[in-house]
Amino acid sequence: MRPDKLTEASIRRGMKSSRLGMRIYVFEETDSTNARAIALAREGAGDGTLVLAETQTLGRGRMGRIWHSPTGVNLYFSLILRPSRAAREVPWLGLASGDAVARGLAKASGLSASVKWPNDVQLSNRKVAGILLEQAVQGETADAVILGIGVNVNVRDGEFPPELTGSATSLRIQTGRTQDRTAVLHGLLESLEEGYATFLRGDYRVIRENYLKRMGQMGERVRVQSGDRFVEGVVSDLADDGALVLRLDGGRTVSIHAGESTGLRPA
Ligand code: BTN
Repeated sequence: MRPDKLTEASIRRGMKSSRLGMRIYVFEETDSTNARAIALAREGAGDGTLVLAETQTLGRGRMGRIWHSPTGVNLYFSLILRPSRAAREVPWLGLASGDAVARGLAKASGLSASVKWPNDVQLSNRKVAGILLEQAVQGETADAVILGIGVNVNVRDGEFPPELTGSATSLRIQTGRTQDRTAVLHGLLESLEEGYATFLRGDYRVIRENYLKRMGQMGERVRVQSGDRFVEGVVSDLADDGALVLRLDGGRTVSIHAGESTGLRPA
């Protein structure tokens, strides 16, 4: 049963964001909404274009992984953003978006959502949403950034592939209720629009403060994979440039600008 099938018309109805979702493309199936969005951006699609699919055959995750994309139960969408800011500032957009998705999902579920650096969103310490930022055109200016978001909405326990069992969850699993995907999407577009506006104002202090409030990892021992390097330490700060600051066992601190963090035993 698919009571809330997503179409351009159903998404427009009741949508409160104005900039995000200005143009909407909905696909029954695509390889990856990020790949579609990159192609559309290269053809000139404007800021705020939303590309959504009911399923993805090659959904892209971070670190070269595949994003599990079963049909009709979750949200898979990409936003084309044209912030015209230096490419080195884009990580702030990722942090602002992580916080925005957490805020949107907390509102939808009534539960408290946290962010795991850089921008995984968790409920009860399990991943409910992931974000993949890609630049449509490589260069020093971020002319078109693709903000790809996958949210586990109504997928049930036992429906995750074995490698995700134990680490992933969904809004339905956490709340015990089937969620209206359109309403969840509307809430996310609204909170993402606020986060994007903060990024465009260059208000990185506010992004950092909001992010820190949602970051469940402060003081936690983590292992971070950055490229082919692994670093282990205790999360001690988020630097002024958005990097994760780890205190190593010898007491030295290191800043990590890109990578993936995994929680270890308590420090
Ligand atoms: C992660 O690994 O945490 C990031 C996952 C991002 C998945 C979303 S689903 C919609 C968009 N299209 C993609 O191919 N990937 C992103």
